[in-house]
Amino acid sequence: MSNQLEKVQELIALREKARLGGGEKAIAKQHERGKYTARERIAQLLDEGSFEELDMFVQHRCTNFGQEKKHFLGDGVVTGYGTIDGRLVYVFAQDFTVFGGSLSEAMAQKICKIMDMAMKMGAPVIGLNDSGGARIQEGINALSGYAEIFERNILASGVVPQISAILGPCAGGAVYSPALTDFTIMTKGISYMFLTGPKVVKTVTGEDVTQEQLGGATMHSSKSGVAHFATADGEEALMLIRKLLSYIPQNNLEEAPLVKCTDPIDRLEDSLNEIVPDSPNKAYDMYEVIGAIVDNGEFLEIQKDFAKNIIIGFARFNGQSVGIVANQPKFLAGVLDCNASRKAARFVRFCDAFNIPIVSLVDVPGFLPGTGQEYNAVILHGAKLLYAYGEATVPKVTVTLRKSYGGSHIVMSCKQLRGDMNYAWPTAEIAVMGAAGAAEVLYAKEAKEQADPKAFIVEKEKEYTDLFCNPYNAAKYGYIDDVIEPRNTRFRIIRALQQLATKKLTNPAKKHGNIPL
Ligand code: HXC
Repeated sequence: MSNQLEKVQELIALREKARLGGGEKAIAKQHERGKYTARERIAQLLDEGSFEELDMFVQHRCTNFGQEKKHFLGDGVVTGYGTIDGRLVYVFAQDFTVFGGSLSEAMAQKICKIMDMAMKMGAPVIGLNDSGGARIQEGINALSGYAEIFERNILASGVVPQISAILGPCAGGAVYSPALTDFTIMTKGISYMFLTGPKVVKTVTGEDVTQEQLGGATMHSSKSGVAHFATADGEEALMLIRKLLSYIPQNNLEEAPLVKCTDPIDRLEDSLNEIVPDSPNKAYDMYEVIGAIVDNGEFLEIQKDFAKNIIIGFARFNGQSVGIVANQPKFLAGVLDCNASRKAARFVRFCDAFNIPIVSLVDVPGFLPGTGQEYNAVILHGAKLLYAYGEATVPKVTVTLRKSYGGSHIVMSCKQLRGDMNYAWPTAEIAVMGAAGAAEVLYAKEAKEQADPKAFIVEKEKEYTDLFCNPYNAAKYGYIDDVIEPRNTRFRIIRALQQLATKKLTNPAKKHGNIPL
């Protein structure tokens, strides 16, 4: 055998060894835990055969606690690039079979390398997290590695999309990398995220809590809002990343891919002409409206179990990707509160950063009153949404279906927040407040002097309704661009988006604004 051939075979053997990560036993254990290995996950995520692995021969440099005797090629992370639906993406997958995927200095360098490349090439970064946190044996070097990653997460924010899947443990400060990315997907029963685990919680606060209760996928997708999606398993999480990316451009200078539209753009949806109940106190389901107007009824909802009074997600109109923000009258009457405001605000900012037009469907009775909300800074959270809409320069199309009252009218992409096309259905009620409340405030004193105070208030309520609780008063001032037939909503939105395709609007030059955090 020639010298060269020997060297080639040595390379092949080394590659094979590297591909085994922590070894066959560790792989079997990973499977027993109900989890795939890092390489298996990458193979599921990317287009077949597209993965190019980098830094397969990197090793940790730690000499503490006998670490100098324990080395695995590639250390605890698999990094590289590949394609999803033919589009370039960069990916890192923590390898739990090597030191529990814990982060070493060398591992951090591998992750930072592909993040830097993603920024240079303008392509998304996908992180598959499954790690015991900082490599304990490395001390401060592991911590500084995290900080290097966080800094890159921050600089990449708004430049290239960043998606995190949590497919195992993610604890301590490690949770901050996913939190800095645009979307976090967790798998039910297997993944968890928390700053301090149940044992520390017990010591510090005396609280008895399981990992699942403290930081499981169900909790984070319904209570904290940290996770945007909770999937049944890892495979579903990876397929979801592929789907999510189909709605998103490669970077902030590009547009989302245009998809061939098979749904007629002028499709009339007669059911919408009768969807709004006669009683203002009765609900209808906003999902029905969304499903009726978007291409083929396809809607990728984000944070569906968190702050259900507002719906956010991606859909397409005539093949063009849009972000939908819609009040949900079926849940808490569609009221805006702390959680709904921050949920929608972050989404609006994502869409704006990545050139995705925003379609807002409005039926909002106002902000939720009470100490619960005020103590939790509903003023600041509401201001986030106000800020996000007002700052956004992407095309903004708003359709008011029914209620649009007071501050919430302004917040939900009104004309003066640079809404481009603001339409209303004939059922729209655009006013300072609902008629009952208005009559009570304006005529409480006078009512007391009447023989029948109740009848008097009802009469005044009707007066207020006739005057303000319709779309025509706002349309009279040009605050609404047109009152449209509900069944024609799809076509009118598509026309508006076509018209807005060449929109150019920039904000004043500044270092950055100071969004109320
Ligand atoms: C070094 C680690 C490790 C770590 C796990 N391992 N975490 N090695 N540093 N942080 C090793 C284990 O020793 C074990 O090695 C192998 O990985 C698999 O771990 P197991 O414990 O056998 O797996 P499992 O039972 O599934 O439990 C997983 C786990 C547990 C819950 C993650 O390992 C664990 O509690 N690890 C410590 C978590 C932690 O406290 N991390 C530091 C957080 S602070 P062998 O050789 O036996 O197979 C932090 C700060 C970050 O991360 C700050 C950023 C700013």
